[in-house]
Amino acid sequence: MPVSMVCGLQWGDEAKGKTTHLLSEGMDYVARFAGGPNSGHTIVTNECTMKLHVVPAGIMREGVINLMGSGMVIDPVGLMGELRDIQAEIDYRGRLFISEGAHLIFEYHRYQELLDEKARGKGSIGTSMRGIGPCYADKINRIGIRAGLLRDEGRLRRILERNLKRKNKIFEGQYKSKPLTIDEVINPILETIPTIKPMLADTSRIAHKAVTEGKSILLEGNQGILLDLDHGTYPYVTSSSCLPASGMSNFGLSPVYLTKITGIAKSYQTRVGKGPFPTKLEDDTGELIRKRGNEYGTTTGRPRDCGWLDLVALKYAVRVSGATELMLTLLDVFDVFEEIKLCVSYELNGKKLDGFDPDSGILEQVKPTYKSFKGWKEDLSNTKWIEDFPENAKKYIQFIQEFVGIPINMVSIGPDEKQTARRRE
Ligand code: IMP
Repeated sequence: MPVSMVCGLQWGDEAKGKTTHLLSEGMDYVARFAGGPNSGHTIVTNECTMKLHVVPAGIMREGVINLMGSGMVIDPVGLMGELRDIQAEIDYRGRLFISEGAHLIFEYHRYQELLDEKARGKGSIGTSMRGIGPCYADKINRIGIRAGLLRDEGRLRRILERNLKRKNKIFEGQYKSKPLTIDEVINPILETIPTIKPMLADTSRIAHKAVTEGKSILLEGNQGILLDLDHGTYPYVTSSSCLPASGMSNFGLSPVYLTKITGIAKSYQTRVGKGPFPTKLEDDTGELIRKRGNEYGTTTGRPRDCGWLDLVALKYAVRVSGATELMLTLLDVFDVFEEIKLCVSYELNGKKLDGFDPDSGILEQVKPTYKSFKGWKEDLSNTKWIEDFPENAKKYIQFIQEFVGIPINMVSIGPDEKQTARRRE
């Protein structure tokens, strides 16, 4: 199995960190292909709890090589902090390579995002404020700065000065805000160069060589399918593609090598930031899910909105991602519930809709219809096999599996990697 992939099938935060860590066992390489410090992955090992933002989860396993691909946007200063935290637990040196083609996030990106979001007022997107959107916009606009430029300080300064002139016109002219100085922008970056420069590499070439030598690569998807720039709930989406197929092309690997896609979905639905959320619960049940699932953003600490699992949206995400199996996470959150619901269809103006339409205008108006399930009222957290779950939990899982049409091969019932029930056989 040369290349496999993990991708989130909801609005992010599906416990991809744990899943990637789990599936990275025995892998030669773990790679990330898009996004940046808007992601937050929490990994719990026997030794520690690690919060990762841009570094692939394979870093927490000795011997695994980690690649940060060209579709990513990287804040060099944030990366330094992350590397310090990692090094305190495990030696990453020699096991992390950063694509020369990855784009860099600078102070002016975060500043621009702050001003843009403020200007949107009530129509703000609720972004993570990490400079993601403006950095990707500069990439598309062909004024972005790629990591390879860290090798040439003189040129880096010249291009930054040129960009800053352009940005300051927007900050001062359009937003009537203070300009940034070149020192504010470049000085923190210069400090990171000695650490980052030795890690710069052609990650597409490394991955291609690995695949042709029969090595295994696990690609770690970021965010979630419903936040995908093209197929998510636009404009309440992130600024990159979250789909496995485009992940391969972002990374510079032919899609023909991709043989397995593990889609991750929580046993319920969450969303952070703005945008339509048909199954959102604004009552005690939503609060109980948030409390039991510890639903607060790893990156921003924001409380996440919670609701029942939306199978209409999940089926759509399975279709556009091409997921070949499903890992259901956080099922233990429902251990104390009398009743659990699944959204099985949408109605609009009294008419049943045919599947999921990612159009935000429509999603804001749909009325979900639910199927109700009896809770199991048992602690699942130490169950090893899916077949050993209580009958009511098995019924819930079976229904989801049949609805979306791919097998649920793993169920996560706690943050520790051991707390994962698999299929016997
Ligand atoms: P951005 O990616 O910071 O531009 O934010 C755009 C939208 O995507 C916001 O609603 C964010 O909350 C959401 N988002 C981005 N990354 C993640 C993630 O890793 N988990 C959950 N939501 C995310």
